[in-house]
Amino acid sequence: MDVLVIGSGAREHALVRALSLDPGVDRVVAAPGNAGTALEAPAEPVDATDPAAVAELAQRLGAGLVVVGPEAPLVAGVADAVRAAGIPCFGPSAAAARLEGSKAFAKEVMAAANVPTAMAHVCTTEEEVAAALDAFGAPHVVKDDGLAAGKGVVVTGDREEALAHARRCLEHGTVVVEEFLDGPEVSVFCVTDGETVVALEPAQDSKRALDGDEGPNTGGMGAYSPLPWAPADLVETVLERVARPVVAEMAHRGTPFAGVLYCGLALTSRGVRVVEFNARFGDPETQVVLARLATPLGALLHAAATGSLDELPDLRWREDAAVTVVVAAPGYPESPRMGGTIGGLEEAAAVEDAVVLHAGTAPAADGTGVVSSGGRVLSVVGTGPDLAAARAAAYAAVDRVRLEGSHHRTDIALRAAERAAAVAP
Ligand code: AMP
Ligand code: GLY
Repeated sequence: MDVLVIGSGAREHALVRALSLDPGVDRVVAAPGNAGTALEAPAEPVDATDPAAVAELAQRLGAGLVVVGPEAPLVAGVADAVRAAGIPCFGPSAAAARLEGSKAFAKEVMAAANVPTAMAHVCTTEEEVAAALDAFGAPHVVKDDGLAAGKGVVVTGDREEALAHARRCLEHGTVVVEEFLDGPEVSVFCVTDGETVVALEPAQDSKRALDGDEGPNTGGMGAYSPLPWAPADLVETVLERVARPVVAEMAHRGTPFAGVLYCGLALTSRGVRVVEFNARFGDPETQVVLARLATPLGALLHAAATGSLDELPDLRWREDAAVTVVVAAPGYPESPRMGGTIGGLEEAAAVEDAVVLHAGTAPAADGTGVVSSGGRVLSVVGTGPDLAAARAAAYAAVDRVRLEGSHHRTDIALRAAERAAAVAP
C-alpha cells in the first residue's frame, strides 16, 4: 500500500516516520511536507486545502490511503474529495470536521449526546459577552468560534482583557464565553471509523509559551506520554462518557465522524470535562504517542478509513516513555521571524534515543542547509524507560540545535517526572 500524507508540520513528519516503519506500507509520499519529511519520503507540491488538487494527486500516485494531518484541509472538504475519487481517506468529512471548525457546533453536539463539558454562552454582541462574563465570574474564558490554530482562546482574570478579545472575535463572527475549568489537561486521541472507537494512550501538551505555564497560548510547546499521575480508568472513562456518545451522535445526524477525534479534557474535581474537540491528531502530542505505539500505524489508519476497526486486534504499546520539546522561532507566537539558518541538526539527531522532527522548516534557497519557515520549527522527541530518561534525551538533542533567537520550554514533563520519581519503589 502507498500512503499519501497531507500537511507539513511536525505531526506530519511523525506520521511519515511511523508509516515508513510499517512493513505493510510500501511507499510514503508527503505533500507538501517539509525539509524533514523530505529526508525520508518523496515530496509532492500541493495546495493542501484544495480538495480537487489533493484528490487528483492521490489518483496520480495510485495511493491506497490518504492521511490528512491538519484541520484546514478537512474543513475545506479534502477528505470528501479523496473518498469521492474512490480512495480510502483517514480524516473526517467537512461536515464532521465542524466538531473542530465551530466551537458552538461542538457544544451543541455535546449537549445532544450528554457529554460533560464547560457551561458556555454563544454570544453575538458585546452586551451578551458582558452578561456571560458576569454570570460565570473570573477567571474568564473567551473563545473565537472559528478555527484559530490554538490561538483564539484567552483565559484571564482581567475582565477588560476578556472583553477586548471578545470584541476582536466579534468583528468576524461569534464568540463563546465559558465557565473556567480547573484541573490538569490531557489529550486522548480516539481513532474511529464512524462506529467503532479505539483510544490511543493519553498525552499532555504544554500550551503556554513560557516555563511554569506562563505567557500566551501557543499551538503547543511540548508534550509527554504516558501520564503516570492520571487515573487508571481515564481512557475507559473518555471512551464511555465522551468519544462513543459523540461518534454515535454524529452518525445519528447523518454526518458520521471517521478519523481521529481529539478529545482535549480537563480532569476537574467534579470529573472529566471536554475542553475542546479537534478533528485531527494533535501537535505536538502525536509525536510522543506515535513514538510509543507498537502496532503498525498504516494498518490502524487504513482500518479506520475503510470501516473495519472492529476487526483490528488490540493496540500494542512500548513500555517506553516519550517527551517532545518544541523549538520555536524568535517572536513566536505573537510575531515569529522566519528564514533563520538551523544548525546542529545532525549533531542533535546523533543523540541516542532522540529524533528530530521538523515542523516549520524548508531547504535553504541556495540548496545548502535548512531554514526556519514557521513559528514552531522543530519538535525534538526523546524516549527512555521513564519520563526522566526521555526528558534527558530530548533536551540533550535540543541543546545541540542552533537557531538564532529561538526559544523552547525547559520544563516539559518536569513535574510529572518528579512526581513519578517520588512515588517510585
Ligand atoms: P481550546 O482552543 O479550546 O483548546 O483552548 C486553548 C486552551 O485554553 C486550552 O488548552 C486550555 O488551556 C484553555 N482553556 C480553554 N477552555 C478552558 C476552560 N473552559 N477553562 C479553563 N481553561 C480553558
Ligand atoms: N496540541 C494542541 C493541538 O494540536 O491543537
